[in-house]
Amino acid sequence: MTPLRTAADLLRTLERGCYTLPELYRLAEQAGLADRADGRRIIQDGQARYKRRLRSALHAFKRQGRARPAGAGKAAWLIEGSTTRPRRALLIWLPADPSHVELVLGAAASVLREADEPIDLIVADPPWALGRGEHRSAYRRTYGRNHDQVMPGYVDVDPAGYAAFTSEWIGAASAALRPGGYLAVVTGAQQAARVQVTAEDAGLTYVNSIAVARRFGLYTRRRFVHQHHRVTLLCKGSLTDPARVFHLPPEMPRGRTGQIYATDLWTDIPEQRRRSLLRYDNSLHPALVSRVIRAATDLGHLVADPFLGSGTTAIAALQDGRRFYGGDLNVESLRFTMGRILAEVVPVIRPETEQLTLFDALAGAPA
Ligand SMILES: C[S@@+](CC[C@H](N)C(=O)[O-])C[C@H]1O[C@@H](n2cnc3c(N)ncnc32)[C@H](O)[C@@H]1O
Repeated sequence: MTPLRTAADLLRTLERGCYTLPELYRLAEQAGLADRADGRRIIQDGQARYKRRLRSALHAFKRQGRARPAGAGKAAWLIEGSTTRPRRALLIWLPADPSHVELVLGAAASVLREADEPIDLIVADPPWALGRGEHRSAYRRTYGRNHDQVMPGYVDVDPAGYAAFTSEWIGAASAALRPGGYLAVVTGAQQAARVQVTAEDAGLTYVNSIAVARRFGLYTRRRFVHQHHRVTLLCKGSLTDPARVFHLPPEMPRGRTGQIYATDLWTDIPEQRRRSLLRYDNSLHPALVSRVIRAATDLGHLVADPFLGSGTTAIAALQDGRRFYGGDLNVESLRFTMGRILAEVVPVIRPETEQLTLFDALAGAPA
């Protein structure tokens, strides 16, 4: 594993690990896949159906035994756009089964509306309208000293527009969920009430309001110190819906008789730290997101996060054997997530299993 320390590490990783559609098209042409008998091209730059075509090409290769296993850690992103400005990225890495990670540049509501299939769990950690944009002086004070190790471009929300913003993306989230699916929203305590009411108004059912203790509080002399996050958990349909998944994560506290005593007060989640590594503003610790994912979904389920940030949900979903779909308005969020997955996650997940890359599959195919 080579963790990302600098922007130069990130650029190097992305340059080695991304294929644009035109590059892929050239590979497909070399492999005799690009044209149909009727002369129509199968894979074209910007084509909306490229994902389906790509997957069926891969499966055909696998079925025919023409796809070659690649070494541990090999994976690639297929991108629309460029490595400096990806608009859409699909992870091509098939450990045994079509795992699926897709990232899209765009606003949360439109990213959710574009989902290919009903979503099992949406984890959302929207900006908190606390004035964390780079142009604010608070941002410069807090992050100014190590600015070159913090990814730029974080998009905040105007506090005056927070209610409309919340109602728009939660409406889209509610429509994108499958019956029995979940929405888990991470906020400070102040915004949690609005999130809960807005989500219930959008037709979702309240499940839990989980308090996640933080080691370091947000100090204030005018109020009690804010020292917890809130995870507001809601589901689509009733609590008794048989399609609803609910597991008790095994690492949770146990009662005297040894059974899991899963309370809504989580005090064991570490702070997210990436000391001397490249990082992103306001990131969650993967342990928090992983617990929500393992409680609310099964293996292979589709997890989404429309406020991707540093990609914590994508990484936790991959590590927990779930598929992932997500997006962010900040192109640097997509780039950072893509780089982290290639450099820090793929090499340590199931390194012993067979991994196929599209590049190897196509490059290995006879022309
Ligand atoms: C609190 S951060 C998410 C952090 C993430 N959970 C992590 O662990 O890294 C919020 C993210 O939302 C993005 N954002 C702000 N407004 C957005 C919008 N309307 N649609 C999509 N993303 C948005 C910001 O650029 C930022 O990356």
